[in-house]
Amino acid sequence: MGEQKKVFIKTYGCQMNVYDSQRMEDVLKPLGYAATDGPDDADMVILNTCHIREKASEKVFSELGRLRKIKKARDGEDMIIAVAGCVAQAEGAEIVKRAPYVDMVFGPQTYHNLPEMVAKAHRAGNVGSRGILNTEFPEEDKFDHLPAPSKPEGYTAFLSIQEGCDKFCTYCVVPYTRGAEFSRPAAQVMKEARQLVDQGVLELTLLGQNVNAYHGDDGRGSEWTLGRLIRELADIDGLKRIRYTTSYPAEVDQDLIDAHRDVPKLMPYLHLPVQSGSNRVLAAMNRNHTRDEYLRVIDDLKTARPDLALSSDFIVGFPGENDRDFEDSLDIIRQVGFIQAYSFVYSARPGTPAAVMDLQVDKVVANERLQILQKLLNDTQTEFNQDCIDKTFPILLERIGRNEGQLVGRSPYMQPVHVEAPVEMIGQIRDLKIVSARPNSLGAELIIK
Ligand code: 5AD
Ligand code: SF4
Repeated sequence: MGEQKKVFIKTYGCQMNVYDSQRMEDVLKPLGYAATDGPDDADMVILNTCHIREKASEKVFSELGRLRKIKKARDGEDMIIAVAGCVAQAEGAEIVKRAPYVDMVFGPQTYHNLPEMVAKAHRAGNVGSRGILNTEFPEEDKFDHLPAPSKPEGYTAFLSIQEGCDKFCTYCVVPYTRGAEFSRPAAQVMKEARQLVDQGVLELTLLGQNVNAYHGDDGRGSEWTLGRLIRELADIDGLKRIRYTTSYPAEVDQDLIDAHRDVPKLMPYLHLPVQSGSNRVLAAMNRNHTRDEYLRVIDDLKTARPDLALSSDFIVGFPGENDRDFEDSLDIIRQVGFIQAYSFVYSARPGTPAAVMDLQVDKVVANERLQILQKLLNDTQTEFNQDCIDKTFPILLERIGRNEGQLVGRSPYMQPVHVEAPVEMIGQIRDLKIVSARPNSLGAELIIK
């Protein structure tokens, strides 16, 4: 191994990017790069970017401005600046033009080529700009070329099983930046899962842009659905908890619903984005389901797993959304009682059909709606947390808390749980009685048996 170098990867956006950033670290490790937590002492900085909303994209260029100054101040000492992820995929050529001090631009499907790109950058020398652009959708599967995942820090890990999206919701850039739906072969996923569990992982979150579209080749001329994959993963002894995200409501099949009924390791908490409660808006978004169809999927899931709770995503101010439509969104929140949600003001994205729709909603109105919707979501979340008091949940104790003698864990519903407990209990799943609730966390007591 050559001399030790440092890489700083800054991650924006979704969990898929968090996963990709970890894998980039795995690829760079054999080249002598260790991770560092800031740009100042880094030999290479990678911005792993998000293109989903305008604000997310803009952050990249302001961060690049800061990095440019650091690179300049280095006074001839080398520093590689790279832009990865979805902004790189969508605006690669633009970045090279607008920010010529950026050395490498590569998309989500090409980071397994980092060794070649880094070698090329070094060959080009420290000339200010190397202009390496790698944003094709390659023939080969990057996962075939990535090293085994290195040991995760805690007891939970992400595992990417599916990428891309063919759904073309009219507001969304993902089908353009991440490309067509692709499922990793079942054996490859099982192998990575076993490697992670062997390294001490207790909880796996399966990732995909549209994860329930998973249909992984089983190597025998047939395919595994997500439901089948979950059943097989549940047979791995050391694995205690399984989650998956993000799902597309119109594609929740019976097999997956049955997995919620049959697999206790599958946590009773599901992120199922609905975006709007209005049939008119859902149609304009091309979501492929009505409000009632969405509610029926939830009914079926709850029949299968009665303790299931849901989180969601909402967009307010979609073109054409009127007060009645917005009321329908509030109403579906009250009806389902989401225990967590992400909500956004609609952001017009270049190249998407919604960006050129009539009746774009005034920003002030959209922001007012967002405030109202978020207040309601906070209320339903607080109510759920209050309802947890006096109940007993299995809590995965993950780390030391801020207060002396305190540990922090996660409930099946992803709530952080604080408890006074001995440090030896880190890495265990314990039944704890919930004794207090806050808007974003719970307090618990150890049950002494
Ligand atoms: N504007 C606002 N929010 C968006 N999302 C996706 N595209 C847009 C957009 N153009 C939101 C959706 C999606 C989440 C990941 O981001 O709610 O579920
Ligand atoms: Fe975007 Fe819709 Fe695909 Fe989700 S399902 S990634 S919102 S196009």
